[in-house]
Amino acid sequence: MAKAKKTARKSARRAQPRTRRATPQDAIALLKADHRQVEEWFDQFESTRSGSRQEELARKICQALRVHTQIENKIFYPAFLEATDEKDIHHEAEVEHQGAEKLIAEIEASGPDDDYFEAKVTVLSEMIKHHVKEEEGSDGMFAEARKSDMDLDELGEQLAARKAELEGSEEDSDDMPPPGGQKSRSQPGRQMKSAR
Ligand SMILES: [Fe+2]
Ligand SMILES: [Fe+2]
Repeated sequence: MAKAKKTARKSARRAQPRTRRATPQDAIALLKADHRQVEEWFDQFESTRSGSRQEELARKICQALRVHTQIENKIFYPAFLEATDEKDIHHEAEVEHQGAEKLIAEIEASGPDDDYFEAKVTVLSEMIKHHVKEEEGSDGMFAEARKSDMDLDELGEQLAARKAELEGSEEDSDDMPPPGGQKSRSQPGRQMKSAR
């Protein structure tokens, strides 16, 4: 798992043509598809008045965003920094993730019976919109990544593999292991309070 990380950088350096493509998506296509999915759920959240539907959507959004920020933090962002040395772009994106993660934990600890539930999801949606613009903008992180020698196909495979693992562990235990493997961090707010 962790071992695979190094290879993306190395193979990018060597600029080796790769014929093996276990995934149809390169790293950027995969990350953009995640963005579109979450945007759709945010739209649906906004347009429903049903508390249980809102809760279901918030849970999906939070899970998807936790997986997405993890694969970016652990795989894509380090590879980006290594290949481009674009510290400002990289650091801002990480700080934005940290802000989002806090709010995600609060939403997961909350529910539609909480007076601030909708406000929190709305603010998360705005934060994510801004962040996605920074990643996908014409001189943003993804554009810079395309110009670099990053091996986006190889990274796409790594992202897809890690994403599947994290999603699998969410389904098995409804608990996400930290990237190290053990579930040692205590994470309050894991379970969303159920709406009565
Ligand atoms: Fe992203
Ligand atoms: Fe991101």
